[in-house]
Amino acid sequence: MYKLKTKMIPSGEDIIEMSGVETLHPGGFDLSKRIGELVNFNPSVHVLDVSSGKGTFACYYAQEFGCKVTGIDINKKFVEISIEKAKKRDLSNLVDFKIGDSTKLPFPDNSFDVVVNECAVGLTVINNPQGVINEMFRVTKPNGTIVIHESIWLKDLTQSVKDELAMKVGTTPYTVEEWSDLLIKAGAKIKTVEDWSGIENIQKIRPNHKWNKKRPHDFLTLPEKLTLIPKIIFKYGIGALNEINKFQKEGLKYFNEGYYGYVLMIGSK
Ligand SMILES: C[S@@+](CC[C@H](N)C(=O)[O-])C[C@H]1O[C@@H](n2cnc3c(N)ncnc32)[C@H](O)[C@@H]1O
Repeated sequence: MYKLKTKMIPSGEDIIEMSGVETLHPGGFDLSKRIGELVNFNPSVHVLDVSSGKGTFACYYAQEFGCKVTGIDINKKFVEISIEKAKKRDLSNLVDFKIGDSTKLPFPDNSFDVVVNECAVGLTVINNPQGVINEMFRVTKPNGTIVIHESIWLKDLTQSVKDELAMKVGTTPYTVEEWSDLLIKAGAKIKTVEDWSGIENIQKIRPNHKWNKKRPHDFLTLPEKLTLIPKIIFKYGIGALNEINKFQKEGLKYFNEGYYGYVLMIGSK
């Protein structure tokens, strides 16, 4: 959420959250599969999924690789959905979820073999990427692995344009060098940097969705929009719809012109 003069407007992150979409990171399952393979997830590994959202990827890691996974998220409703999901998939013996803040992880030092954060280090609601990374590093075991997947600037823009876009999207991109510096400052050694930019990766958020060629970011179906619009009007007022439309066009322009992308970074402790 951000403030425009006197009005509160939902950010892109708020809209995704309100929309009921299950998978909340670009790259979707392909990205998570790649992480599991690169880091060699297996039954002897205990993974912490920081900001685990609706538990989709924590369950996926356990199901696909047999590893133990703990998910943590600040949103109580998401944690309840996650616990239910694990139960339904018969994964409660491998996966557990907790409510908690990524800047104050409720775990002792050196607790997990791998600590993953998919698209929630740069969130503007947290506004403390170094604090999140420091905490991820603290709870990783010595020789363990820390993984982030984050938005990046691929070309330069003025700081005021960057700040405005970050506020509207709901997450702050940095350059790959800046993300590296944050990891190194926490104490990590960088092992892998992979580019996950491009519209094809955005669209992996929903692999079965019928994407509109003219509106390649339009990730909701018509019935989903018809459910979401009254919620937005109720919470933010009708003016918010105009602002969202305006921003979709602006945001698309920066994306299409290659200013904005995603990176997967893996470091070791
Ligand atoms: C973009 S979603 C990513 C969810 C998940 N990692 C995924 O890829 O599907 C961001 C998540 O961060 C969570 N979040 C926001 N602030 C948080 C905080 N301070 N501590 C922990 N989680 C937080 C939100 O509730 C949301 O689930």
